[in-house]
Amino acid sequence: MKALVFHGPKDVRVDNIKDPAIEQATDVILKVTSTAICGSDLHIYNGMFPQPRNMVLGHEFMGIVEEVGKGVQNLKKGDRVVVPFPIACGHCHFCSMGLHTHCEESNPEHYGPEGGLMDGKGGALFGYTDLYGGYDGGQAEYVRVPYADVGPRKVPDGLTDEQVLFTTDIFPTGWSAIEWAQLKGGEVVAVFGCGPVGLMAMKSAWLHGASRVIGIDIQEYRLEMARTAAKAETINAKDADPVEMIRQMTGGYGADLCVDAVGMEADRTMLEKAMNVIQMEKGSMKVLGKCFDAVRRGGTVTVMGVYGTPFDNFPLHQWFDKGIKLFGGQSWPHVYIDKLLSLVQEGKVKLDDIVTHSVSLADASKMYQVFNDKEDNCVKVILKP
Ligand SMILES: NC(=O)c1ccc[n+]([C@@H]2O[C@H](COP(=O)([O-])OP(=O)(O)OC[C@H]3O[C@@H](n4cnc5c(N)ncnc54)[C@H](O)[C@@H]3O)[C@@H](O)[C@H]2O)c1
Ligand SMILES: [Zn+2]
Ligand SMILES: [Zn+2]
Repeated sequence: MKALVFHGPKDVRVDNIKDPAIEQATDVILKVTSTAICGSDLHIYNGMFPQPRNMVLGHEFMGIVEEVGKGVQNLKKGDRVVVPFPIACGHCHFCSMGLHTHCEESNPEHYGPEGGLMDGKGGALFGYTDLYGGYDGGQAEYVRVPYADVGPRKVPDGLTDEQVLFTTDIFPTGWSAIEWAQLKGGEVVAVFGCGPVGLMAMKSAWLHGASRVIGIDIQEYRLEMARTAAKAETINAKDADPVEMIRQMTGGYGADLCVDAVGMEADRTMLEKAMNVIQMEKGSMKVLGKCFDAVRRGGTVTVMGVYGTPFDNFPLHQWFDKGIKLFGGQSWPHVYIDKLLSLVQEGKVKLDDIVTHSVSLADASKMYQVFNDKEDNCVKVILKP
């Protein structure tokens, strides 16, 4: 089959490789019909997360069940499903608590309680390095889906791939950013980052009753997308200090909720890059710092952007003095996906209006570069195997 294979940083290629096969009785093999490139794939692409051997990437995908393991009860050949990006057994200590991204069965080699850099990780993710389980991903013609009774959800009739594909990752991720803050309605929500995750957080903020939604980015074309697809007010952080602007917009108080939908790959100066080497940090936590500045006293910050190393000068004093409620981590697609599919089916939310590129899987390598370098007004890429 054809698959997008990671060979090394900035080197991903569509190769011909062996088809996946059923390995456990609880597996299915999916014929992938649509898959997307995620901002998280860029951390591997850019070498932020190490991956020593070749691997098929991709954790946002959907398709048709092609082959069913003997132990699978809920799926049959021909079913059309979306698949949440974490791989979870469904019955361990953490899965039973609804914490599927902390599944203690799916990533036996690198799992542990520490949450360390190289080991002591959480549960596995599709196509997301050996440290996260070493499973091949779905940017391919076929993919093996373990624990097939736990993750995959049948797609309601009448919905296109484009309408539901993002229930696998970015919609539940944007939803988690808002849901975890337990809004009561009427809040001002500021979302740092107008990439796919930020845009989904903005859509989710409206669905949770926000009174104002503010999107912040440094790319004008993405701010434009935030205005059109997510009806947000916008701030270009290259032109103005977003913290000052948000305070001005909120009577000096700050936003009730700030979402970090950027993470460690925020734009960096040469000096910041040099400091990374000295401090053994990867990337920057400058956006998290802006969230702490821009949130009101007693407000909430949710961190969906990924951070991969410890950081010196974490503003602990500010967190304490302002009494900030801080949430973050891998999102909870297993918990939210059924509700989110219903919202799409009922027409309460539209997800496919952020797609800027829908191309053949054969063009995946080029599209990684285009998405990473923010060329051609690229916001979200769908690949068709
Ligand atoms: N927590 C989870 O479960 C989960 C799931 C999916 C993605 N993610 C992470 O969410 C983050 C965003 O994902 P994405 O797909 O939207 O990625 P993306 O790279 O397309 O978007 C990031 C956006 O941040 C903007 N940005 C960079 N520096 C900035 C700054 N200083 N101020 C404001 N904006 C800035 C970029 O211009 C870009 O639009 C990534 O770190 C990704 O790994 C987390
Ligand atoms: Zn993702
Ligand atoms: Zn589990």
